[in-house]
Amino acid sequence: MTHFTTIAESSYEQLRHYLDVAIRLKTQYSATGHNDPLLAGHILAMVFEKPSLRTRVSFTVAVTHLAGAAIMLRQEEVGLGVREPVKDVARVLSGMCDGIMVRTFEQEKVAELAKYSTVPVINGLTDFSHPCQAMADLLTIEEHFGSLAGRTIAFIGDGNNVARSLATACGRFNMRFVIASPPTYQLAPEDTDRIMSQLPDMDLEVTNDPIEAVHEADVIYTDTWVSMGQEAEKARRLSDFAGYQVNEELLSHAPSHAVVLHCLPAYRGFEISDAVIEGRQSLVFPQAENRLHFQKGLLAVLLAGVK
Ligand code: CP
Ligand code: NVA
Repeated sequence: MTHFTTIAESSYEQLRHYLDVAIRLKTQYSATGHNDPLLAGHILAMVFEKPSLRTRVSFTVAVTHLAGAAIMLRQEEVGLGVREPVKDVARVLSGMCDGIMVRTFEQEKVAELAKYSTVPVINGLTDFSHPCQAMADLLTIEEHFGSLAGRTIAFIGDGNNVARSLATACGRFNMRFVIASPPTYQLAPEDTDRIMSQLPDMDLEVTNDPIEAVHEADVIYTDTWVSMGQEAEKARRLSDFAGYQVNEELLSHAPSHAVVLHCLPAYRGFEISDAVIEGRQSLVFPQAENRLHFQKGLLAVLLAGVK
């Protein structure tokens, strides 16, 4: 059973295949207005313990375009690990559905679902990782530049779930990943050690200096300074991240061909300025749309075995 719970568990060939099928289905949809019914009769269960716009809509629309159906299950109803054990939910959903997408806090819950599920389990974000986002981001970068290998992503901000997945995805695709964070918000040494042990040839740099980070960047990436579940730390975080905003001043230190990505939701005036998100270098909304296209590729391969 192939799951998609982290980038690291997938080989380059698997990730490349998800992207290739995504590109094929995106091209088909834009040329004809529809996709082949690859998921006819297939049901995706979606469990959400946190809010979502993009992840919920992209999975629902992807399944619908491929002629399957998605079921939305809120944590208040399912009580994953609360109303009943995660391993019981895994086996019940496996008996009725063809795939499980889950957004939760603990990566361990996703791992446990995958352990007990007999259908593919997809991670729709945990505190640790956001692999679907990272792959949609690579799709966006490849569409824009025509290639991935050798490109540099400068991530400015929190060494969080999005940064971890993106760093690992960069390693898989021979891209350089530079992350500039305030001292206590850097990718933890155990993260960089783990990534480097999995991808020993990876070009990974951790710095406190956003200007140094963007110097040779093809892509400048940022994400919220206050992730879901960290609301109680908001005041301290907003103060600790001062100086790490992606704004026009920072872009003036980057190559003029650099593009700006943000996984969204964005908090204008904090991690990114309004001028940058609305500016000529921003690919933020094509990036959001690519969540849909990547989910199609992923679901077609995992649920329907598309070659
Ligand atoms: N980027 C992202 O995952 O957005 P949502 O939280 O709205 O799903
Ligand atoms: N780091 C953010 C990403 C949101 C898509 C969070 O976890 O809230």
